Amino acid sequence: MAEAAVGGDPEHAPETGEGSDVSTVSAAAPAEIGLRCEVDGEIATVTLDRPDKRNAQTFATWSALARIGDTLPERVRVVVVRGEGPSFSAGIDLRMFTPEGVPGQESFASAAALGETELERLIAEAQRGFLWLRRPEIVSIAAVQGHAIGAGFQLALACDLRVVADDVKFCMKEPALGLVPDLTGTKPLADIVGVPRAIEMCLTARVVGAEEAVRLGLAEIAVPAGELGQTTRDLAAALLATDHAAATATKRLLRAAPGRTLEEQAAAERAEQVARIRALFASN
Ligand code: ACO
Repeated sequence: MAEAAVGGDPEHAPETGEGSDVSTVSAAAPAEIGLRCEVDGEIATVTLDRPDKRNAQTFATWSALARIGDTLPERVRVVVVRGEGPSFSAGIDLRMFTPEGVPGQESFASAAALGETELERLIAEAQRGFLWLRRPEIVSIAAVQGHAIGAGFQLALACDLRVVADDVKFCMKEPALGLVPDLTGTKPLADIVGVPRAIEMCLTARVVGAEEAVRLGLAEIAVPAGELGQTTRDLAAALLATDHAAATATKRLLRAAPGRTLEEQAAAERAEQVARIRALFASN
């Protein structure tokens, strides 16, 4: 098993590849990052690893996530995102709302003093930690137990699929704190549950449990907490049984489908199938 640890001893840091930007990560103490990534064959497991702080996330966490996406080995086909301890993630580290902030990182107070372009760049870098999970070449699965609040909910939404424990508590709390959900969560949420339900969930910050999450399509399956790991591994194995090129092309089609007309989608299906037929059946 090849292991890539993010946030630990720099000697055990993953190969970053040329040009990867680790500046935001390295400015923060390892304990503030609280993230590790293990690659085993075609499966990468990204673990939020600050259970004593309910896997609260900081800018350093998001930069480290982006770096994992940047340096993911090509052979990886399934990425599992999980959280250590009783909660998947209690969301953004609440110290970011204090004037002192998180040591070595921007707080909201210091970020507010940035110019508009710099502030947007800071948010874009945070979003980069989430966006790669939708790449067609991989299928990402969030394995979610306990609280998935704010940034935790958005991280689960950034994944293609969600397997949840029966104690899951999804909550989009940003508006209650005066913010908007900006870690790429509003689109998948609205796409999955519809705009009216998304408005209701976000603006009331209510908790969505396992049964409702499955009913709304926010989770593919809910299982007893003790079965979360095995169910996720079984799903990963089933996904890996499908031809990689066909899986990539199919995910690319499905991801693009909501934004296309029927005619556009039919044309996209033809283009993908031409490539598949040629790859599978061309004699020379
Ligand atoms: N940021 C920083 N520390 C946190 C956070 C957080 N978001 N959530 C929990 N912790 C810390 C607690 O301060 C506590 O630390 P301590 O042991 O040093 O006192 C430890 O984690 C355990 O927290 P408890 O509250 O004791 O754990 P419990 O299991 O009872 O409750 C819960 C968990 C419900 C998640 C609660 O901690 C909570 O409400 N956290 C804040 C959630 C929140 O508002 N997040 C922001 C969402 S908005 C966004 O993400 C942009």
